[in-house]
Amino acid sequence: MQKTALPPYFNISPDAAAESLDPATDTEGFARIAASCLQGRDDLATRGMDNTGHKKLRLFSTWEITKYLIPVAPAHFRRVLRQNPNLPQGVTETNGGARWFALDEVLRLRAHFGTEGSKAKEYTPYRPKGLPAKIVAVANFKGGVGKTSTCAHLAMSAALDGYKVLVIDLDSQGSMTSIFGAQVADEWATVFPLLARHYATHLRQDNQRRLDRGEAPQPLDDTLDDALKISTRDIVQKTHWPNIDIIGAQLNLYWSEFQIPVWRMAARGWKLWDGLSDVLAEDGILDDYDLVFLDTPPALGYLTINGLSAADILLVPVGASFLEFDSTGRFFDMLHATFHSIEEGENIAARALGREEMRFEWDAVRAIITRYDGTQQAEMAGLMQAYLGRTLSPYRQDFTALIGQAGENVNSIYEADYRDFNRDTYARGRATFDETYAAFKTLLLGIWRREELEAQGNVVE
Ligand SMILES: Nc1ncnc2c1ncn2[C@@H]1O[C@H](COP(=O)(O)OP(=O)(O)O)[C@@H](O)[C@H]1O
Ligand SMILES: [Mg+2]
Repeated sequence: MQKTALPPYFNISPDAAAESLDPATDTEGFARIAASCLQGRDDLATRGMDNTGHKKLRLFSTWEITKYLIPVAPAHFRRVLRQNPNLPQGVTETNGGARWFALDEVLRLRAHFGTEGSKAKEYTPYRPKGLPAKIVAVANFKGGVGKTSTCAHLAMSAALDGYKVLVIDLDSQGSMTSIFGAQVADEWATVFPLLARHYATHLRQDNQRRLDRGEAPQPLDDTLDDALKISTRDIVQKTHWPNIDIIGAQLNLYWSEFQIPVWRMAARGWKLWDGLSDVLAEDGILDDYDLVFLDTPPALGYLTINGLSAADILLVPVGASFLEFDSTGRFFDMLHATFHSIEEGENIAARALGREEMRFEWDAVRAIITRYDGTQQAEMAGLMQAYLGRTLSPYRQDFTALIGQAGENVNSIYEADYRDFNRDTYARGRATFDETYAAFKTLLLGIWRREELEAQGNVVE
């Protein structure tokens, strides 16, 4: 008789298990594990297996430029290049082969078509004059739902479309930071000093009032003194994308989650949620860029609250599964509770003093289905659509193998070279992120246009 093997979790001997067990771990155990990881990490880095090497953006071919980036026919594109020898001419790998251009060259070509080409065509993307950049936060308190992927792809799509983009990484895990190859030595190269500056500025004003009342001022420690000297532009870094800059993150940024409540205890009047938006506005960042993308950690901590409160547009990635739908519902519940309690706290005093009440406002809030598998998830997605209505973006971002397959040091389909893939697979993978961007851009343009009309004195219904 053949013996059927039992599943692996039967017949485990408690004695053997006890014998193979290590002694209990204490706090020092973590230090030992950390030291082993550090050693391994350094070893991997010397073998070039780290993800922090200097990044370089690939070149773009005439085919890709005329198909995806500048809406002109290839023959016309070539003719314009011949007629304008001062324009970038690209490089060829073989004699008479395809011409390849760096992205800054593509941007120069686009600007040329924008000024010289047909006015009927959209060579440069719409941005109303005089209106500030829009801030976009991508958030959900669930991890692994596609926040960072969506945020990075939108930032890159917008850059390819000709917008000037700033990315701010609020997740101390630093995924966005490594996608853009930024080096962040410590918390001073993250948003931490900007939030510290906001608090220090509040404290100085508070101290002035104390002095006026004849009270002793609160001391500013070294951290706050140093933070007062830092401006946003000091910590913005260039990336391998000519029109994407970044404020990076690394583990020390997490310290903010402990520091911010301590500051708030010391100065109850400090509006901690306004830190990021105030500093970006004060430092002129909203004039330097067209779009600011915030990638947030999977938590509703103080950094996320700062990001959400700064945001004009809130995007909430969610997979078409029961668990993700359910937890996203609870995320919205937490958003309501958090921002409502801030409003209430502020408005009790405002009401007592007869001042105008404050309330938070977002131009648009959209959930986006990510990693969608139409063969398995159509029913679930349809139900989510029925319940969420217009809050759910009409476009579902497909699951695509391109993201996982894109080679080392390449984290997005826009950075991958299409020649490495089957053309259909590439076109489909790219199409799904192009559509995600198109849905976002429709929101963006609608919001900007509404504001432009309002600024001109036209009331929009
Ligand atoms: N459209 C997609 N198709 C396939 N894989 C995806 C897609 N979007 C995200 N992923 C993968 O899902 C995982 C989680 O995505 P990530 O963007 O890091 O989520 P989060 O930032 O919410 O934690 C990553 O491994 C990422 O490569
Ligand atoms: Mg992430």
